[in-house]
Amino acid sequence: MYQPHQPISCYVCPLCATSLQLIQKSYVCENNHHFDLAKEGYLNLLPVQHKRSVEPGDNKQMMQARREFLEAGYYEPMAKAVAMMVNINQPKHLLDLGCGEGYYSRMIEAYCPNTMMLHGVDIAKFAIAAAAKKQPNARFIVASSNRLPYTDQYFDFVLRVFAPSNEHELGRILKPSGFLLTVTPGPRHLWQLKEFIYTDAKEHALENGVAQGFDRIDTQHISYKIAPNPQQRIALLQMTPFAWRANESVQQAIKDVAELEIETDFILTLAIKTAD
Ligand SMILES: C[S@@+](CC[C@H](N)C(=O)[O-])C[C@H]1O[C@@H](n2cnc3c(N)ncnc32)[C@H](O)[C@@H]1O
Ligand SMILES: [Zn+2]
Repeated sequence: MYQPHQPISCYVCPLCATSLQLIQKSYVCENNHHFDLAKEGYLNLLPVQHKRSVEPGDNKQMMQARREFLEAGYYEPMAKAVAMMVNINQPKHLLDLGCGEGYYSRMIEAYCPNTMMLHGVDIAKFAIAAAAKKQPNARFIVASSNRLPYTDQYFDFVLRVFAPSNEHELGRILKPSGFLLTVTPGPRHLWQLKEFIYTDAKEHALENGVAQGFDRIDTQHISYKIAPNPQQRIALLQMTPFAWRANESVQQAIKDVAELEIETDFILTLAIKTAD
């Protein structure tokens, strides 16, 4: 169903921007820059000089918390809706941008019967190694969404779930009429967790705009309640941008409450590329 690594690739060298070719277990450009496939099968195309920190992106603990929470199935209704939107559009080359440990890529492989090549990119090496290990049929790379080492117009579908992006790069790597599916938090997302942290919790502002050069074609609003156990509540907290505001006593309070129903609120926005 899925294709293995091909000798002529969709990758470009992050150092000199010429195309990369697979020679045995390394990708090599015409200027002889080498990038070895890791034992898990992923490729690190983030050279040190492009890193802003030693360990950019989510750390190992955040990645593990995310995997534990997602694999418990709490976001599965949203993930299935994502997979359905992918399936309807029958892409050939799909990129999961800021894919983390690969949960949505695995859901797409599980729920989309059509043949496609799945790619995932994230700046966090731990997350990519974990994603690649679990899904050998997909192709994962370490890179930044600000400099995507893919050839122009390679993808016909980009998925972005709670992840940062760069409009220019999105437009460049997508084919004309390619799709961009973005999942962002709706106003009430994780409201009950926020109430533990902020005395005046505010609803998420709606991210209304679509990227420049794209037209919105569909919006789905998905919301439902979840009741994670105390340990999973902390894992969920670790996935949020407000985790750093939760000190020990707040975390204890979140764990101690006997029952906690938490609202989820997701906005799925499907847009089509209209211009270059
Ligand atoms: C909130 S997480 C979402 C991960 C995944 N999409 C999910 O929902 O499970 C954001 C992800 O973006 C990654 N990230 C942050 N900055 C990035 C960048 N500049 N380029 C690529 N990925 C980035 C992080 O490492 C992290 O995995
Ligand atoms: Zn090169």
